[in-house]
Formats: sequence, C-alpha cells, structure tokens
Amino acid sequence: MKNFNNRLGFIWLDGRFVKWNQAKLHVLSHGLHYASCVFEGARIYNGKIFKLNEHTKRLFFSSKILGFKLPYKEKVINKVCEEIVKKQKIKNGYLRPFAWRGSEMMAISAQNTTIHVAIATWEMSTYFDKRKKFNGIKLKTSKWIRPPSNTAPTQAKAAGLYMICTLSKHIAEKKGFDDSLMLDSNGYVAESTGANIFFVKNNKLYTPIADCFLNGITRQTVIKLAKKNNIKIIEKRILPRELLKADEIFLTGTAVEITPISQIDNKKFNVGEITKKLISLFSDLVEKN
Ligand SMILES: Cc1ncc(COP(=O)(O)O)c(C=O)c1O
Repeated sequence: MKNFNNRLGFIWLDGRFVKWNQAKLHVLSHGLHYASCVFEGARIYNGKIFKLNEHTKRLFFSSKILGFKLPYKEKVINKVCEEIVKKQKIKNGYLRPFAWRGSEMMAISAQNTTIHVAIATWEMSTYFDKRKKFNGIKLKTSKWIRPPSNTAPTQAKAAGLYMICTLSKHIAEKKGFDDSLMLDSNGYVAESTGANIFFVKNNKLYTPIADCFLNGITRQTVIKLAKKNNIKIIEKRILPRELLKADEIFLTGTAVEITPISQIDNKKFNVGEITKKLISLFSDLVEKN
C-alpha cells in the first residue's frame, strides 16, 4: 500500500485545502492521546460519493456522543467532501472525513479544546484482494469482544473503539486469516473488525441486533435490498454455533461492500446464491448512485 503521509494533492484541514504532506497536527493533540476523535469512511463510485448525507449525519452524531460540536454545518461538510473528490480527481475511491480535539488541554478533561476537522480522499478498489472478494475471506474468532454499550459509546464511529479491532485483526493475520469474528459480552455473534455480518439459512437472511456495534449504513442498505426482493430478513441474537451451521455467510461495510466468508476458524463455507444475488443488487445500486 502506498504510504499515506506523502502523496500528491490536497487534504482539507480546518477550513482550507492544504498540500497533502503538510496536513499536520500537534503531537500533543487530545484526539491522539485520549481518543477524542470521530471519523467516517464513504465510498466514491464513478466520481460520486455513495450515501454522503448518511455518512455526514453519522459524523455529527458520533461527535455529539463524544460531547463535542463540529464548527461547521452538515451542508458545508457535504460540499467540501464533493469538492475534494473533484479536486483529487477520484473516480473510485474512499473518503475519510474526521474530527478531533486539539492540543489546548493535555488531561482527561478537555472541555475547552479546539475541534479540528479534516477530509481526505484516495483511490481504492476492493478492501480484500479481488480473488478473495469473489471467493470469500477467512475469519478467526477473536479473544477480544465488542464492549457492551454501557462501557463504550458503541454507536459512535469513534477512534477509541478500533483499538481492539486492530489487536484482533493483527492476531488473525498472523495466523493466516483475513479478519476476525468478534463476539459480544454475552457470547453472541457481533461483527468483524470493520464490517457487519449476515448469514443465510434455509433461504432466510439473519443478522445480529446492532446494540453494541455500529448499525452500518451498508447493513441498513442490504436489509432494505433484501426486503425489496422478498428475502426474509431476521435480526436476532445469534450464537456462534448457529452461525457455523449457516448455508452462506457474508460481511457488509463501506470498505468491504458485500464480501463472502469462506471459512470461520476450521469450518468452511460456500459462496451461495443469496450472497451472489445481494452482491449483484448492491452493485446495481452503486452504479445508479
Ligand atoms: C466496526 C465497524 N462495524 C461496521 C461497519 C460498517 O459500517 P458501514 O456500512 O456504515 O460502513 C464499520 C465501517 O464503518 C465498522 O468500522
């Protein structure tokens, strides 16, 4: 992967476009030390940002949960997102708007810090390599669990929540897997490190209730697509042993889009017809974007 600290073009930082390699923050930023940082990830298809409004709304919602207010209106952020995609000439890529507390206070309490906002974008194809995106990826069950909703702001897309995701994913990768399956504090299936999970059993679609992890924008889109296409969808608590009896399993997320699962721990799965149908419906939808 090309290094992210020195690329051509611009990043929007605190109200202006600055040269990519000059988009810097102070080392004593609260966001870096205490994770007071929220972010978004959206996809660009054919030069257009998919579900931009939904992503911007979630960025504001996440910052509200973390107790800070962005110094811009949603419509300004939307406009800048569109501008930077054009300026960077992105055709198919990724957009990363984010906000964090600055360096005025270096302590747990940080009520009077400046709120910084930046937006960057880059070309991106599939999250996993193309062969895996088609044939499925391998998940390893993580020893880390999704935190219960009274121990962390689980509905926010907040930097702090990703510490256990990076730890989990590194362990999985070291063992030859692509990603981790994370359970919740009651032992039910939650999600992967950066995507929601669905499975198919007897032609019905199942997904866990999103009460301790992000109710992903792609998850919501896939649920709508399923309903529109008469695929029965059930949100419920799912034990790992039920997941392992599935006919098909897949992940959904902005980065992974819809990615089939070919293996969880030692158990193998095929890429089934409902997964293929949803992939095709999703790709029609983003084409129409
Ligand atoms: C931990 C986690 N869960 C789920 C998702 C899926 O969310 P979305 O479909 O909105 O990208 C993401 C990606 O944003 C994520 O990081």
